[in-house]
Amino acid sequence: MKASEVDMYNTIALGINAPVYAFYAGRILQRTGIRSGSCLDVGCGGGYLGLALARITDLDFIFFDQSPQMLHCAEENIADDGFSTRARTMQGKVQSIPLADSSVDLVVSRGSVPFWDQLPLAFGEINRVLKTAGWAYIGGGLGDPETRAATSERLRKEYPEWQKKHRRPPLHDNGHYASALTAAGIDAFSVTRNDKGMWITFRKQ
Ligand SMILES: C[S@@+](CC[C@H](N)C(=O)[O-])C[C@H]1O[C@@H](n2cnc3c(N)ncnc32)[C@H](O)[C@@H]1O
Repeated sequence: MKASEVDMYNTIALGINAPVYAFYAGRILQRTGIRSGSCLDVGCGGGYLGLALARITDLDFIFFDQSPQMLHCAEENIADDGFSTRARTMQGKVQSIPLADSSVDLVVSRGSVPFWDQLPLAFGEINRVLKTAGWAYIGGGLGDPETRAATSERLRKEYPEWQKKHRRPPLHDNGHYASALTAAGIDAFSVTRNDKGMWITFRKQ
C-alpha cells in the first residue's frame, strides 16, 4: 500500500471500524478464556485486533506483520493507547515465524489469511509456536450483521472510493482450509463461515 493508503486504512480502522475489532476481541476472549500470558497478532496491520484485546485482558502482545509500514503504524497506535510496556512488534512472514516452539498462549489474526500462500506451512508455524492448550483464532469479517451494516454505511458515505479500490483476494472454500490444516498436522479444528465472517479455530494438542 502507498503511504497515503496506509494512513487512510489506519484512520478507518481506528474510527469507523473500531467496533469490528472490539466485537471480535470479545468473541476471542469468550471462546478461548485466555486473559493472561502472551498473544501473537499475525498480519496485525496497525495492531487493531490485538489492541482491542489488550483493553479487555492482561495479555502481553507481539504484533507481527511482513510490512514495515504497517508495523510503524502499529508502534504509533500501541504508544497512543498506552500499551508500550505490554507490546512489541516483529517483522516477518507467517510461513516462517521467528519465535521459539511452544512460546505463545494465543494466536489471533484478522483479515490476513486471504493473503497467505503455502497455507499448510503457515498453519504449521502457528501451531508450532503455540503452547500446549493454547488457541489459534484466525479469519476475517466485519462483525455481526448490525455492526457490518453500520460500518459499511459510514464507509460508503465518508470514503466512497475505499471499498471499490480495496478488494482482498477471495477466500478459499472451507474444505481448502480444512485440507491445509490437516496437512499441517492439526487434527482438531473448526472452520466456520456465517454472518459473523469466516473463522478458523484450533487448540494445540
Ligand atoms: C488487510 S490487512 C489486515 C490488518 C489487520 N489485521 C486488520 O484486521 O485490520 C492484512 C495484513 O496482513 C499482512 N500480511 C499479508 N501476508 C502476510 C504474511 N505472509 N505474513 C505476515 N503478514 C502478512 C499484510 O502486510 C497486512 O498488514
